[in-house]
Amino acid sequence: MSEIRDINLWESGKRKIDWVRGNMCLLNSIKEEFAAEKPFAGLKVALSIHLEAKTAYLCKVLAAGGAEMYVTGSNPLSTQDDVAAALVHDGLNVFAWHGATAEEYHRHISEVIKIGPNIIIDDGGDLVNTIHNEYPQLIPNVIGGCEETTTGIIRLINMDKAGELKFPMMLVNNARCKYLFDNRYGTGQSVWDGINRTTNLIVAGKNVVVAGYGWCGKGVAMRAKGFGASVIITEVDPIKALEARMDGFKVMKMEEVAKIGDLFVTVTGCKDVITEKSFYNMKDGAILCNAGHFDCEVDVAGLKKIAVETKLARNNIDGYKLSNGNWLYVIGEGRLVNLAAGDGHPAEIMDMSFAIQALSAAYLAKNKGKLSSMINSVPEEIDDDVARRKLRFWGIEIDTLTEEQEKYLNSWQV
Ligand SMILES: NC(=O)c1ccc[n+]([C@@H]2O[C@H](COP(=O)([O-])OP(=O)(O)OC[C@H]3O[C@@H](n4cnc5c(N)ncnc54)[C@H](O)[C@@H]3O)[C@@H](O)[C@H]2O)c1
Repeated sequence: MSEIRDINLWESGKRKIDWVRGNMCLLNSIKEEFAAEKPFAGLKVALSIHLEAKTAYLCKVLAAGGAEMYVTGSNPLSTQDDVAAALVHDGLNVFAWHGATAEEYHRHISEVIKIGPNIIIDDGGDLVNTIHNEYPQLIPNVIGGCEETTTGIIRLINMDKAGELKFPMMLVNNARCKYLFDNRYGTGQSVWDGINRTTNLIVAGKNVVVAGYGWCGKGVAMRAKGFGASVIITEVDPIKALEARMDGFKVMKMEEVAKIGDLFVTVTGCKDVITEKSFYNMKDGAILCNAGHFDCEVDVAGLKKIAVETKLARNNIDGYKLSNGNWLYVIGEGRLVNLAAGDGHPAEIMDMSFAIQALSAAYLAKNKGKLSSMINSVPEEIDDDVARRKLRFWGIEIDTLTEEQEKYLNSWQV
């Protein structure tokens, strides 16, 4: 049961999966354990994460643990058709293709829900929303789910506050082994990989504007500085703004910085961060892209409306000419640039994020019916286990507290 672009692409996809497997030591060790313990025996798992090689390997790890896998993407532009083909070739069920229309994307999400999943692995909330809104009769089958990203978690918390979340969710993004590494170092590196390979322009000497100084924004700004850019931050949170200033960056309002920016990266999780007000202020040739989960940060629809002329400037870069004669360029249609114009985070980073995903899914299966809260943090033991395994695989040893030290740290009398 599958709906993919072309099964004949499987060999190229297999090569990509084999390559990441060689760099995902945590998942390799978890796969061996799952193969022996079969924590998902008899369970159907629906998964919606950007469908490229690292995600495909996570699917194979869950399948090794006995899961019947139903897989789709989490963004129409991030699915890699050869990777999807390789999974189908291995007997998994996949519903996704690159460049899906809004209707096709929704159909693919619906297909993996319609099979009646027991565990949901989501990235941005599309699976959870769809089952709650369109297939509530299937909710009783669901043991629980895991959410990969900040934006999805914000939605889950809002759903829970409204009393609308009907099964327990694990907040994978909020595990320290996820956001401290994936959001910061992963986004920091892969955003620049996507921008650089797509534009083939220099970053040094440019005014790079990063909207949002959260975990992802910190990474994007840090790496832009490393490339030699002058980095300017926009923020709405006064503490994050101060943090950015003390990290050595300029902080300005978007409307003002629009006048001097050469390259803009939004990564806020908010909407309408760059809109018409700023477009008209921008320099001729300014480049815009987004790394936040949804494509609502740069108002590309608004830009299309006010453009007097458009062109495909380069593969994956659309040009828009404004009435003042200036051309603005948008990478990857304003969808998250590291996946719409690249291969996403490095394998070693996704190894950590997906180890948390895999172990959290197994935790859900083990604790079926026992979780009283709908919103659940990843247990510290899982977080620590992932960090310790990673250190071990990288050959790094750390100190341990002596009994005396433990006593000292746990007492208040000197
Ligand atoms: N591209 C990727 O691979 C990737 C990876 C992880 C997370 N994400 C997504 O990136 C987004 C940010 O994630 P995060 O973990 O950094 O979140 P975060 O909450 O740590 O940071 C977001 C920051 O944006 C700021 N912000 C909000 N609205 C703003 C606005 N209008 N203008 C300027 N600043 C604003 C907030 O104050 C906050 O500091 C989310 O959508 C998340 O899902 C993308």
